[in-house]
Amino acid sequence: MNGRHEQLTIPPNRTLLEMVREALQLTGAKEGCGHGECGACMVILDGRTVNSCLVLAAELEGASVVTIEGLKQGNELHPVQKAFIEHSGMQCGFCTSGQVLAAKALLEENPNPTADEIRDGMAGSFCRCTGYTKIFDSVAAAAELLRAHQGERP
Ligand code: FES
Ligand code: FES
Repeated sequence: MNGRHEQLTIPPNRTLLEMVREALQLTGAKEGCGHGECGACMVILDGRTVNSCLVLAAELEGASVVTIEGLKQGNELHPVQKAFIEHSGMQCGFCTSGQVLAAKALLEENPNPTADEIRDGMAGSFCRCTGYTKIFDSVAAAAELLRAHQGERP
């Protein structure tokens, strides 16, 4: 979990979302719909985003899980997190961890997305507050930041 080995005894009916929030006290992932539709519970499982409310924790032996708490790099926020802050991509924050992880996954797959591709790529993450414009602006800004970081690398 977030780069640390964890050994947990979890009842067989518990979800990954319950495991991260209750057993590990990582409360960034939220329970919204509880059945795979809103994206508020998103985490990265073995390199792919998943809605953690749909995954049974008992199936995860040996798996790598990254939650929003594991995204920052050392003391630095991830560029996607910085872009969301800078462009006000959140209001109440309930959906934000899922939005940020969805944006990270989108930009890893497509570093230079069009506005339509951002809209499509973020379609699995619902937000009740922002009207989405600032979220999409944040993703576009994050794409620029990430490309600039890539350009800096030798
Ligand atoms: Fe998991 Fe909505 S709480 S997708
Ligand atoms: Fe409130 Fe998205 S910021 S639900």
